[in-house]
Amino acid sequence: MKITKENGSLRIPDKVTIPFIEGDGIGVEITPICQNVVDQAVNKAYKGKRSIEWKETLGGEKAFKERGDYLPEETVEIFREYLVGIKGPLTTPVGEGFRSLNVALRQTLDLYVCLRPVRWFPGVASPLKEPQKVNMTIFRENTEDIYAGIEWQQGTPEARKVLRFLKEEMGVTQIRFEETSSFGVKPVSKEGTERLVRAAIEYTLKNRLPSLTLVHKGNIMKFTEGSFKRWGYELAEREYSDALADGRLVIQDVIADAFLQNTLLFPERYSVIATLNLNGDYISDQLAAMVGGIGIAPGANINYQSGHAIFEATHGTAPDIAGKNKANPSSLILSSVMMLEYLGWKEAANLITGAMEKAFANGKATHDLARFMHGGQSLGSKQFGETLIQLIN
Ligand code: NAI
Repeated sequence: MKITKENGSLRIPDKVTIPFIEGDGIGVEITPICQNVVDQAVNKAYKGKRSIEWKETLGGEKAFKERGDYLPEETVEIFREYLVGIKGPLTTPVGEGFRSLNVALRQTLDLYVCLRPVRWFPGVASPLKEPQKVNMTIFRENTEDIYAGIEWQQGTPEARKVLRFLKEEMGVTQIRFEETSSFGVKPVSKEGTERLVRAAIEYTLKNRLPSLTLVHKGNIMKFTEGSFKRWGYELAEREYSDALADGRLVIQDVIADAFLQNTLLFPERYSVIATLNLNGDYISDQLAAMVGGIGIAPGANINYQSGHAIFEATHGTAPDIAGKNKANPSSLILSSVMMLEYLGWKEAANLITGAMEKAFANGKATHDLARFMHGGQSLGSKQFGETLIQLIN
């Protein structure tokens, strides 16, 4: 049955249909493992009262083979209709005119939050001395900023036109090498900032987290990143003054470069992070590396207003290890944990997280992690999935 949105909140049926894209490369291996783990946890937690019906939708190479289209319209429509879905990694087709499939889904459904929780699991090797202090959730703005793709290549008539406009109509004088410059535009809006920061505040309050940090480069880019910071604070004061007054909501801000340094030196200072698109891209990868890398970092793209959410492995299709039973399914499994939490199925989510904690604490992991663990035991992807299922039951 379908999830619906009623009176502003999601209605989740006990037998819920979740569309999924299997994914290319290692997606074919990790998706069934992930579904098996989730089914076992849901069954264990709710004893048959709740269950997931997985509905396959085509995307990527499989879609191209069967439909001649990497992202059939029907797939987008299914994600639109069913509200919540999950996807494995997809190959970005090479060649003119192909958009990244991930970007296409994000734009079509206006999934304005890229959500990335980052925590450390005891046993997993980390470059930090005290990785147990890392526990952050990144809200990265997903639709604006220099990533909007508004740019003109050097030497084109369009770039020359932009240059003329900037000089003649806008009085710009500080372009260092006029003739050899490409140009890009960085749109940052009040609405875009407010919906992102609002989602981050709601998350902070709901999960009773110690602070929300606005990360920006407003010292340099005053009207874009600087406004992001100002609009963020203003929104909090306008809509959450009670929570600010009674200490449930603590908001701080920090310049992005200092933030990256501080996350290595004092990770305990940060909990929920709200930031713009480009900063968020760098920050997500650095924080993931601090707790074990891309094989274990989960993610989701969400529109909290419409309820649309697509949970996903954050890594790519890993063609170098595809078909070898070596891929780490943890990123996709932890994305499913996020999905279960989004559905409000916390008991099932906790069973999976608990099983993963035990597996890693005992040195059981796929090769990418086990090779760096003390007494690590490298398991194949399937064996790792089976280990989790044993620990769940
Ligand atoms: P990648 O993430 O696929 O691989 C980078 C390295 O990490 C490789 O050495 C790979 O073996 C390893 N790795 C990745 N996931 C792993 C896992 N679960 N377990 C163990 N090791 C893992 O990035 P790459 O090679 O740059 O991209 C390959 C393809 O994936 C490209 O077509 C790219 O466009 C696409 N891609 C798709 C993404 C998505 O669908 N969200 C994200 C990133 C890349």
